[in-house]
Amino acid sequence: MEPPILRLAGVSKHFGGVRALHEVDLELRTGEVVALVGDNGAGKSTLVKIIAGVERPDGGEIHVDEQEVKLDTPRAATGVGIHTVYQDLSLCDNLDAVKNLFLGQERTTGWWRGRAVRRGAMEEQAKAVLDSMSVRLRSFTTPVGGLSGGQRQGIAICRALVSDPRIVMLDEPTAALGITQRAEVLDLILRLKEQRRSVLVISHDLKDVQHVADRVVVLRLGTKVAEFSRGRYTSSELVAAITGAHEGVA
Ligand SMILES: Nc1ncnc2c1ncn2[C@@H]1O[C@H](COP(=O)(O)OP(=O)(O)OP(=O)(O)O)[C@@H](O)[C@H]1O
Ligand SMILES: [Mg+2]
Repeated sequence: MEPPILRLAGVSKHFGGVRALHEVDLELRTGEVVALVGDNGAGKSTLVKIIAGVERPDGGEIHVDEQEVKLDTPRAATGVGIHTVYQDLSLCDNLDAVKNLFLGQERTTGWWRGRAVRRGAMEEQAKAVLDSMSVRLRSFTTPVGGLSGGQRQGIAICRALVSDPRIVMLDEPTAALGITQRAEVLDLILRLKEQRRSVLVISHDLKDVQHVADRVVVLRLGTKVAEFSRGRYTSSELVAAITGAHEGVA
């Protein structure tokens, strides 16, 4: 088997007296979709933030391509090909799709031409990225505030793709979406997989998880308590791992 593109070993994190993560191991392979599940406060977002370079672990190691890396800043994470789509999406409602896709990563002419924004080049690339994910918009010039939840999630995912990342992390991409829009986002995740990108997705929706994930990692109170491969678990086993229901039973 090829080595994992991302490997966490013994990652721990405290916030004051709260143990958010305790010696968590995690592997992600090329083209693999791994779902991270667990009850509220289990440590899922904290783990994603550590891999995104937003929070620093107190202990443990992170390896990318079998090299240890220090992901001290979001820039360090994007530098090794890791991009994150957050729950709140952080889209700018008053800007159009193209501007949102390139926010903070605008294409400009060289300094000798005054670093002018290259709108044409950005529109072309935006169209290519949106097409590759089958995100359809009627117009590139309308502010994204008026778009549907599914379209907005599509733009947020495509924004992560502008820099051609190898690893995409999604924190609850289907929360607060309608049924059709949820299906669209699940399709987007499977399309990322088709493109041989690796996906780490947090979800509370166990149906979604069972549909898209090659592997499911369960966190409870900051500890990894179970890991299941596709087709090798039942819904009740998954629920039991999340809630700890099987413990204390003689
Ligand atoms: N910045 C912070 N400061 C203090 N405590 C924090 C901070 N971030 C997270 N925590 C605590 O760490 C624990 C794990 O939180 P985290 O947000 O990772 O959980 P989660 O699994 O994402 O939960 P949810 O499903 O509700 O999003 C919680 O007890 C939380 O209160
Ligand atoms: Mg969370």
